[in-house]
This record gives sequence, C-alpha cells and structure tokens, in this order.
Amino acid sequence: MKAVKRWSVGNLTDMASLPGARYRAPPGRRRVWIIMVLSLISMFFIVAYMYPHHSKRACNYMISSRGCKALADWLPPSLREYSDDEIAARVVITEILSSPPVIRKNSKIAFMFLTPGTLPFERLWDRFFQGHEGKFSVYIHASKERPVHYSSYFVNREIRSDEVVWGRISMVDAERRLLANALRDPSNQQFVLLSDSCIPLRSFEYMYNYLMYSNVSYVDCFDDPGQHGSGRHMNHMLPEIPKKYFRKGAQILTPKLLHAVVHHEATMADSLYYSKFRDYCGPGIENNKNCIADEHYLPTFFHMLDPTGISNWTVTQVDWSERKWHPKTYMPEDITHELLTNLTSADTVVHVTSVGMGEEIWMPCIWNGIKRPCYLFGRKFHPDTLDKLLDLFSNYTRSVTWNL
Ligand SMILES: *[C@@H]1O[C@H](CO)[C@@H](O)[C@H](O)[C@H]1NC(C)=O
Ligand SMILES: *[C@@H]1O[C@H](CO)[C@@H](O)[C@H](O)[C@H]1NC(C)=O
Ligand SMILES: *[C@@H]1O[C@H](CO)[C@@H](O)[C@H](O)[C@H]1NC(C)=O
Ligand SMILES: *[C@@H]1O[C@H](CO)[C@@H](O)[C@H](O)[C@H]1NC(C)=O
Repeated sequence: MKAVKRWSVGNLTDMASLPGARYRAPPGRRRVWIIMVLSLISMFFIVAYMYPHHSKRACNYMISSRGCKALADWLPPSLREYSDDEIAARVVITEILSSPPVIRKNSKIAFMFLTPGTLPFERLWDRFFQGHEGKFSVYIHASKERPVHYSSYFVNREIRSDEVVWGRISMVDAERRLLANALRDPSNQQFVLLSDSCIPLRSFEYMYNYLMYSNVSYVDCFDDPGQHGSGRHMNHMLPEIPKKYFRKGAQILTPKLLHAVVHHEATMADSLYYSKFRDYCGPGIENNKNCIADEHYLPTFFHMLDPTGISNWTVTQVDWSERKWHPKTYMPEDITHELLTNLTSADTVVHVTSVGMGEEIWMPCIWNGIKRPCYLFGRKFHPDTLDKLLDLFSNYTRSVTWNL
C-alpha cells in the first residue's frame, strides 16, 4: 500500500535541468564559484520544497541530518505539497466522510468495552439495557483475563484481544479491534467506547436519541499549548503533523459510523498518521517527552482531517480537578443524589491545560445548535460504588425527558 519513492543522488542530477538552477558560466573563476554555490543552495531549497517527505534522504548526502531537519521545520506546512501517501489518505477519508448518514429504525449502538477482565458494573449496565433489545450490541476486549459475567447481555461477547499498555498505541489497537468487530454488523450506526470503570448516567432512550440524532462524532479535542500538550510534539512527526495541529483529548470516544470507519481504516498497520504516533509516542521511547499516544493520536487526526465533524468534548464525564496524571476515582462515599445531579446537569465542559498552574478552557456543550447537558456516561467509578449506584439508578436516570 505504501509506495516509498527513494530519493537518490540520481534524482538530484535531474533537478539540475530545472529553470531555476540554470546559469551561464561567466568569465572569471571566482564568479563561477560563487554562482555555483548559490545555485546549489537554491536548487537544494527547490528540492526540499517540492519533496519535503524525501528531502531528508537527499539531505544525508549533502549536509548533516540536523541541518536537514531544521530545513523541514522552516518550510511552512500550508505551502508544502502533500506526499503521495498523504494525498491517498486524504482522498480515502474525504470519500468515506462524504457519504450521507443513514438512520434506520433498527439502527443499533455498539457498546465497546475495554477492560482487563471482569466488568464491575455489568449489573448496572444490565439495568440500563433492559427492554431495549435490538437497539444495541455489546463487544468486550478483555486484555488480561476472561471476564466472569453477571448479565446475559455480556455473555460470549468477548472478541479476540491482546495486551494493552497505558500510554502506548496498543490502546488504539484495541479500539481498532473492537471497531473491526462492531463494523461487521451493518446495523451498528454509532459506537461507544467505554472502560471497565464507566457507568451509564442517563436512561437508554435519552442516550440513544442524543447520539443517534447528533450531527457530530463525540471526540474530545483541545489545544494545550503547555508542555503536556503541544510541548509533546516532536520533529519526527513533521511534515505530516505540523505542531499547530497537535491536539489532546480523552481516549474515550463515541464516533458515528463514518468516523468509526475512518478510524478503523486509518489505523491499519502502516498508515501515515498512525505510524508517527506508534513510533514516536509512548513511555520508554527515546526522547518521547511523555507523549501519550492514545491521548494525542485521534484528537490530532480528526482535528486535521475533519475539524467540524467532531464535538471537541467527550460524552463520558471524568474529573480532572485534582490535576494529577490520572483523573479522580469516585469512591462509595462520593456517590450521592447531589453528585449524580451535578454530573447529569452539567452543560459546560472544562479542559485543563498544562499552562501555568493549569489554565482552564471552558466551552458550552452545543448539540445540533442547542445548549444541552454534556454527559451520557461517567468514568472512574470504584467497583465498590456499584450497590449505591444500583440504588440510585432509576432515580438519577428518570429526571429529564428528551424532546427533539
Ligand atoms: C471543534 O473545534 C474546531 C476547531 O478547533 C472547530 O472548527 C469546530 O467547529 C468545533 N466543533 C464544533 C462542533 O463546534
Ligand atoms: C454540585 O455542584 C455544586 C455547584 O457547582 C457544588 O457546590 C457542589 O459541591 C457539587 N456537589 C457535588 C457532590 O459534587
Ligand atoms: C450541526 O447542526 C448545527 C445546527 O443546525 C449546525 O450549525 C452545524 O453546522 C451542523 N454541523 C454539521 C457537521 O453538520
Ligand atoms: C429522587 O429524585 C428526586 C428528584 O429527582 C429527589 O428529590 C429525591 O430525593 C431522590 N430520592 C432519593 C432517594 O435520592
């Protein structure tokens, strides 16, 4: 699929016939020498401009790779031409995204669970799903051990799985595996990615209408100019991923069918954008600047390729207010009617950046042009909160009726 054109010294000599590089030999050795040097430099810039992707290789023959990288950075991304791979990727993606969405009566929502083993909230999900058979499907990626089930909706729903390492692209790979399975059922129109610590915050009908009739995919995406945001961008990612497009966001996403297809296709082993994050992001990778692959790959990818097709916030609530590496975990003592009312009524989201003491960016949750509550699911609930949540479930999910 990937056709890499080798940029050889042979090609360089071809470039000498370009108009810009032509000159007449004037009298006097000194001038000849100056003009030769000048034309070599300008030729070099022309080559680098036309073939930014391959110029690194060309560079190696001429000057150190350090100088070459500096040159690639210097080229403005908007002015450079896309490589064959980038053009191919963009054509496929535009093609997929331009097909009109279909909502049939039997459209289903695919619930895709990423978990190490047994899902602690199966009984709560069971309550949530009851009476809505035929409108959802369940897929489980259990990366460590075979789950024990408490709900018939979850039995035999495991897919083939593999190890998942925090911060590495393996998390994205697991998502892709879940999508590959969910995409085989053509009635799945909407895809909800969840972890073992996630709970439903709404009734099934509310959630179904919210997602099915929304005109965007719920992908978290924001610009963090600090060291844990675009500070994690690396020159290795150039030229395909310019720093100004580098974004951050929660891994837990809820794509619509077309974005799910794009995500699936774009994550194939050797594809352009994916491989940049796979190769250069992750704890333990040299000079990785703590780049967390699954926090940056999809937000950056969708921001570059379909910025208006995504919501920029995630429908899965998580509390970052403690400003640590991991979000706050809700414990049994936290679970009150008040907390759940707070979570379900929130209609603005906050993104905490790594600028200063953690500058905040607030934005309203706009659903098809109307301000609405932001969240359908909650994340980071301790397994011991199950009983309290089961007690409160019918109360906290009955509150709002949905009027379209
Ligand atoms: C998400 O952000 C991008 C740019 O940052 C913007 O163009 C787009 O309209 C936003 N999406 C929505 C649904 O507002
Ligand atoms: C709920 O929200 C109110 C207002 O923002 C806040 O004062 C209160 O502490 C919150 N309660 C809980 C349990 O989160
Ligand atoms: C979604 O709907 C809103 C309100 O009708 C509109 O402003 C927005 O452009 C739409 N977005 C897309 C991607 O169709
Ligand atoms: C159930 O919800 C109502 C309002 O929605 C509230 O007033 C009531 O206290 C709740 N009951 C319990 C047991 O929390």
